[in-house]
Formats: sequence, C-alpha cells, structure tokens
Amino acid sequence: MVSAPAQPRIREIRLAADSPALFRAAASELARIARKAVSLRGRFTVALSGGATPLRLYARLASDAESRDLMPWRDTWLFWGDERHVPPDHPDSNYGTGYKALLSRVPVVEAQVFRILGELPDANEAAMRYEGLLHSALGLADERSRSFDLVILGLGADGHTASLFPGTAALQESRRFAVANWVEKLHAWRVTLTLAAINRARAAMFLVSGAEKAPTLGRVIGGPWEGEALPAELVQPHDGRLIWMADAQAAAGLRLFRP
Ligand code: 6PG
Repeated sequence: MVSAPAQPRIREIRLAADSPALFRAAASELARIARKAVSLRGRFTVALSGGATPLRLYARLASDAESRDLMPWRDTWLFWGDERHVPPDHPDSNYGTGYKALLSRVPVVEAQVFRILGELPDANEAAMRYEGLLHSALGLADERSRSFDLVILGLGADGHTASLFPGTAALQESRRFAVANWVEKLHAWRVTLTLAAINRARAAMFLVSGAEKAPTLGRVIGGPWEGEALPAELVQPHDGRLIWMADAQAAAGLRLFRP
C-alpha cells in the first residue's frame, strides 16, 4: 500500500489557453530541459509516453522548424514509458506511433533509441530485456541512481499513467525499473516503467488536454489522496521536478487558489 507523502512535492502547474498553446509550451519546456541536460551531462535521456495527447507534441516537434531545431537530437537518448504487448508495426504500438510521428522525421541517432520488445511472446521477457537495456544505457549503478532526465507522461481518464493502471500489480514494484503488468480491464499485458523508475527521474512532465480529462485532473491536483486508485498522483519524483501542463479545457475543474 502506497502511503500519502508527508507533503505533496511542490508541483509546477502550467496552464495554456488551448491545446495548440499547450503543445507550444511543452515543446519549448522539453527543449529547455534537453539543452540543460546536454550542457551539464553531455546527453539528454527521455522516456516518451504513448497515447494520443503526447503524439500531438511529437507532431509539433517534427513539423515546427523552431521546435525541431531547438532540440539537441544528436545527444538525445530515447526510451519509452510503456508499451503494449504488440509488434512495433501494430497500430497500437507506442514505439510504432512514435516512430511515425517523430523518430522518422528528426535526426535521432538509431543507436540511442531503446524500444520495448512488445513483439516477444512473453511480456515478462520483454520487461526483463528492457530492464537490462535501462541499466546499461542509463548506467544505473544502484537503487539511488537517477533514471531519466525527463519522463513524459499522459493521464488516463481512470487516473492511470504509463501502463500503471489503478489496482494493478505494477504499482507494488519498488525495485525494478520495468515490469510486465496484466491489465484486467483491457484484458491485456503491458510493459511499463515502474514508480521506482519514474520517481528517480530528474523531471516528470504530464501533458493533459481536453474537457474529458478535467474530472481526473481535478482529482489529482485538488482532490484528497487516493493512492493506488489514482496512480498518476503516485508520481512524485524524489528531488526532481513534477510538471503538470494542461490546457484550459482540462483545467476547468481546478481550484488552484483557494479563496
Ligand atoms: C499509453 C500511454 C497512456 C496514456 C494515457 C492517456 O500507452 O496509452 O502510456 O498512459 O498516456 O492513456 O492517453 P491519451 O493522452 O490518449 O488520453
């Protein structure tokens, strides 16, 4: 059982007037984080999210010259926050959709792209392989090692993020960075980063857009602690940044400044 933090970490909540403004702001924040990481450590390590919302960020990064050219692609190391248990050419593949929307359109270095092998018959095997990749590519020496410079996350209407769904076993994992997770409501296996991995990132950035996410965002930002019923609120990077970026439609239910 994950207990409530003594004091929720200071969150950065950035609201945009509409979704184009949200993805403009997200693209410039991403470039800022990336360039700072490269200047400090010589590379930028980022875990991309699946889902439709982050795809709109990737499309902007690929199509908007300013956003694209601000990113240090040659020094960027790309990972995924989760993957469906499907081959990379399947329409549901997070790697496949990310490749089409972004990787095929920007100068990433192929040897610096680390996907989850969703095509393997056994999701546990895929998770173990990915865990090995993370340890070698990120240079994880021990449990205190930082994971990524940035984890980009979406917010499901049910409060899931990555493939950490309410009440699923992956929420209990406190040591491994990647696990297979059976999601009963989808009747499907997923491979996902664990909270151990996400909360060791230097920054986690949620992208939330649209009125349909307003109730869930209201639960996360302004509601009582719900723990495993609301996995997104378990993202609390240890001495890292927690950035919530939302458009006005998604933020409609927020009461940020209590009268
Ligand atoms: C996935 C994502 C998932 C996603 C949320 C929100 O594999 O689908 O990792 O966590 O971010 O479901 O998805 P939308 O942004 O499409 O609403």
